[in-house]
Amino acid sequence: MTRDYLRLGVNIDHVATIRNARGIRHPDPVRAAGLAVKAGADGITAHLREDRRHISDEDIAMLSDVLTVPLNLEMAATDEMLEIALRHQPHACCLVPEKRQELTTEGGLDVAGQHNRLSPYVRALVDAGIRVSLFIDPDEDQIRAAKDLGAPVTELHTGAYCDLVGDARAAELDRIRKAAELGVSLGIEMHAGHGLSYETVAPIAAIPEIRELNIGHFLIGEAIFHGLEASIVEMRRLMDEARA
Ligand code: PXP
Repeated sequence: MTRDYLRLGVNIDHVATIRNARGIRHPDPVRAAGLAVKAGADGITAHLREDRRHISDEDIAMLSDVLTVPLNLEMAATDEMLEIALRHQPHACCLVPEKRQELTTEGGLDVAGQHNRLSPYVRALVDAGIRVSLFIDPDEDQIRAAKDLGAPVTELHTGAYCDLVGDARAAELDRIRKAAELGVSLGIEMHAGHGLSYETVAPIAAIPEIRELNIGHFLIGEAIFHGLEASIVEMRRLMDEARA
């Protein structure tokens, strides 16, 4: 398979996490989005959580106004989030599972088990011209269920791959590869993300079927030491090197 360009979506949630620690506007995630674009981000990703622990409604409104690259809005499949998405019309929406107590999105969406519940949300977003992505574990049943739901994109959860070591990580990487191949064979555009760092990105970036990575926490953390632009430039370099 030819290696198409691999897009980088930079997730700016944790700029908002730091901002919210003080309840003021600094550091501004919208300003971070501008810097990310300057550094080579192909898109900006933001997760509007139901509890608003980081990104706020106002952030989504401002990003929708000022961004010069696609906005990927991550959200739970709820009526409230659907209304917000339809109002702002982001380029893309990624449906994710959400639990109040979790520190981050812990697992993929159970698309196979929740077909009837998810179906109206997928349909409403697709009908509005928004590119719908489903965040799923690299599992055959989930990919086939995403196809049945009519989602044009799925994002494979790379969290387990990043957390594991040795043979277990190699086995999880193999699952991701097979899932990406299956998805493309079914006509689904394949993305991946969660937990990726300089150490873990290359094998994922090298999978030719994957067209986009969404990376946040590591880049925002690394920005403390080297600056946001330099951190994104280095991630981009590692992605390009792995892809070559
Ligand atoms: N993709 C999805 C669907 C996510 O929910 C997240 C975390 O918000 C990411 C990618 C980015 O993960 P990380 O912040 O660990 O890079």
